Amino acid sequence: MSSSTLLSRLPRRPDGGRPPTDDPTDRRTGAAGLAAALAAVSDRWLPLVDYRSTSRWTHLLPTGDAASLLDPDLHDDLAGAQVWLLSWLPSQGTPLHDHAASAGAFAVVRGTLTERVVAAGSGGIRESANGLTGGRVRHFGPHYVHQVTNLGADPAVSVHVYTPGLRAMNTYRIEAGALVRTGTERAGVDW
Ligand SMILES: [Fe+2]
Repeated sequence: MSSSTLLSRLPRRPDGGRPPTDDPTDRRTGAAGLAAALAAVSDRWLPLVDYRSTSRWTHLLPTGDAASLLDPDLHDDLAGAQVWLLSWLPSQGTPLHDHAASAGAFAVVRGTLTERVVAAGSGGIRESANGLTGGRVRHFGPHYVHQVTNLGADPAVSVHVYTPGLRAMNTYRIEAGALVRTGTERAGVDW
C-alpha cells in the first residue's frame, strides 16, 4: 500500500492531539507512545537521516510514511500528530524554546542528547538538565520550555512527535530571573 493511500485511510478526528482519557474504550497512546513506537522501528527510517555541519538536519516525515511504519492501532493517534526526524552533530543544539500550543514527545535513537528544562513560576526560574541516551523518551505539554543539545562526542538522532502539528516556536533567554521571549518562528514562514 502506498503512503498516500495510507494517508487517505487515516481517520480524521476533530480532537486530534487531545490527551487520552479515562474512558476504557479510548485506546489512544499519545505523542510519547508514537515516539517510542517510531524509535522501535528506527532501522526502517534511519537510512533517511542526513547530517549537516552548518545546522541541524531536520525532516518532516509525511504522515503516510509514518503510518506505513506503525501498527494500524496507532493510526488514530497519528492522524492528529506531526512527526519530525532530527540529527545532531556534536555541539549542535537548539536555543531555549517552546512549541507554542503543541504538546509532544521525543525519543533519542542514537547518541546522547542533553535536555535543559526551564520553568518560570511565582518562585522564579527552576531549571533541570538530563542526559538522554538511546531509548529515552521525553514528553511535554503546551508551552513547555526546553533546550536540547548534543554535548556528546558522537552524532545523535531523535524522533519528535507534536500534537497538534507544530505551528510556531518561541525562543527565550533568561533575564533577571524571568523568561524573556526573544523571537517567534512560524510554520510556513520560517520552516
Ligand atoms: Fe523542542
